[in-house]
Amino acid sequence: MAESSTVTVSIENAIATVTLNRPHKRNAMSPTLHVEMAEVLEKLRYEPTSRVVVITGAGESFCAGMDLKQFFMELENNPPEFDRIYRIATEWRYRTLRYYPKPTIAMVNGYCFGGAFSIVEGCDLAFAAKEATFGLSEINFKHYPGGSVSKSMANLLRPRDALFYAMTGRPFKGDRAKEIGFINEAYPLADLKREVMELASEIATKDPDALAACKDGYKFSLEMSSEAAMNYSAAKSDQLTLRQKGSWRSEGIGDFLQGKYRPGLGGHEKAGG
Ligand code: ACO
Repeated sequence: MAESSTVTVSIENAIATVTLNRPHKRNAMSPTLHVEMAEVLEKLRYEPTSRVVVITGAGESFCAGMDLKQFFMELENNPPEFDRIYRIATEWRYRTLRYYPKPTIAMVNGYCFGGAFSIVEGCDLAFAAKEATFGLSEINFKHYPGGSVSKSMANLLRPRDALFYAMTGRPFKGDRAKEIGFINEAYPLADLKREVMELASEIATKDPDALAACKDGYKFSLEMSSEAAMNYSAAKSDQLTLRQKGSWRSEGIGDFLQGKYRPGLGGHEKAGG
């Protein structure tokens, strides 16, 4: 894939690593970065060699939030351009990631502030370095978690934690991020990449259509009534059967019934089929 200036992509062993690449600015999200990130996610959406997408940051930072200078200051007197970038910025972090067809993992290697919370929340899974520093710093500069950030927090955090960190702007570390349910796990920085890549490799062995159904079934049902969710789930199951040409029955269950593997203890690849 062609590389852009603020985002790099590498694909290895079916895992696409997308790196926010403005280390000299702690990977703050400039207007260009938002545009390029939206383009990269669009290209990777149906890119055939990658099955899992990992998002991380170059250097010692994951992402220092919005580029406060280029976005809030330099676009102050240009409302149409501010609106254009605001919409792109919100779209890729909030909607594109949320409903992305491939599994997504945030790998938080360092600083993670403000608008970066929406990247972490938008990904299906998130892991961080114990050394990483998180913060809803908006209140510290007389603002609040705007754009998609308030909703991202409401989606994931308990009310007490969300408002505590939003109203104090106090930084916290990876272990605390795990404790409040913002990430799945915190590892020493030295182990972070290995742990995340191992997990991504494991997920990459699963059936991609089943993974997409997993994500849709969970994420869309959050916004549905129970009745609608049951109906959606039944339709989703039919869609999965169609897309896989019935292989969850013929191979998935069929190979178990022939004693080739035990789904309770591992994936279908153990059936050797
Ligand atoms: N927007 C624009 N530039 C930034 C940002 C940002 N969010 N974060 C860092 N930078 C720039 C700095 O201005 C500096 O640029 P310069 O070298 O041209 O002077 C460079 O990145 C390095 O920053 P330092 O502050 O020198 O680096 P340090 O490692 O000491 O601190 C830290 C890093 C803690 C991330 C600090 O830069 C900081 O507090 N940044 C702002 C974090 C923030 O509040 N983000 C906004 C969240 S709200 C939102 O996203 C809407």
